[in-house]
Amino acid sequence: QKHQVVMTGALMPPALERVQAVCEVKLWDQGGVIPREVLFDWLRDAVGLVVTGKVRVDDELLSHGPNLKVIAQSAVGYDNIDIPACIRHGIPFGNTPGVLVDATADLTFTLLLSAARRVHEGWNFVREGHWSLGKDLPYGTDIRGKTLGIVGMGRIGAAVAARARAFGMKIIYYNRTPRSDEAAIGATYQSFDSLLAQADCIIVLTPLSAATKGLFGREQFARMKPTAYFVNASRGPVVDTAALVEALTTRKIAYAALDVTDPEPLPADHPLLKLPNILVTPHIGSATTETRTAMSQLTADNLLAGLAGKPLKACVNGEVNYK
Ligand code: GLV
Ligand code: GLV
Repeated sequence: QKHQVVMTGALMPPALERVQAVCEVKLWDQGGVIPREVLFDWLRDAVGLVVTGKVRVDDELLSHGPNLKVIAQSAVGYDNIDIPACIRHGIPFGNTPGVLVDATADLTFTLLLSAARRVHEGWNFVREGHWSLGKDLPYGTDIRGKTLGIVGMGRIGAAVAARARAFGMKIIYYNRTPRSDEAAIGATYQSFDSLLAQADCIIVLTPLSAATKGLFGREQFARMKPTAYFVNASRGPVVDTAALVEALTTRKIAYAALDVTDPEPLPADHPLLKLPNILVTPHIGSATTETRTAMSQLTADNLLAGLAGKPLKACVNGEVNYK
């Protein structure tokens, strides 16, 4: 008798095959987000749930899965998961920390460099048949010698700092609690307001929570340098989108590069997409074959441990009482 498992999207093949070897998998493979009615129906007999993509896990969902023993999500962020609800229902929840640190730091730093050096604009310029710079394509800006402000100094922040050091940047950071190893990271703690005022480039990597929702609003953009570059690679709702549109339109800041937006995806006629001083990528921070495979494997490890009644390899709510 195989375990009944629901997957809201496919894991990468090696991990999917490992799971399918011991589980009967109901897989949503029709693209987009699985409709809630379908998910509720599938959960009735499920003992495991694998989440990929934007699925909200809350009391209502958990009440449709009375036999659930484990939930494993293929992402490090878990703002879509009601952790207290998982604890109330006695269900361990696993995520994928660590394995996506370098890929996400690479993409984050790529956004900064692409924006500073106008890479995507240069490509559009060439594709439109132009070549000489200066008039239609403004010069970019050096990052060497500039001050980088990192908001949210976790593992990904530290990996971004390592890259920035190699590029000759000075690094300051803001965190809920200052890190005891900041000398090793090569970054200096600043208050949030002081970071906003001093940084030439700001990179946002903080998780989304009640405390960080709308952290960047009108007032915060007004405190930044008018030459500031703003990069968000965390979660869209950490930024008040209307305030960002205004700040870019009125040149309170120079430029934004975003891997995450609110809403996500952006509708085709969204004001952000009409601005000249912005670059948007479609939430691809961890989207490399190697990293997505490692995330899938860790997700499978978490799922299979939970089904066996063992502690998960990476568990967010380790205090849960196992069923
Ligand atoms: C992606 O955004 C993740 O949280 O892993
Ligand atoms: C990110 O900071 C992680 O812990 O993977």
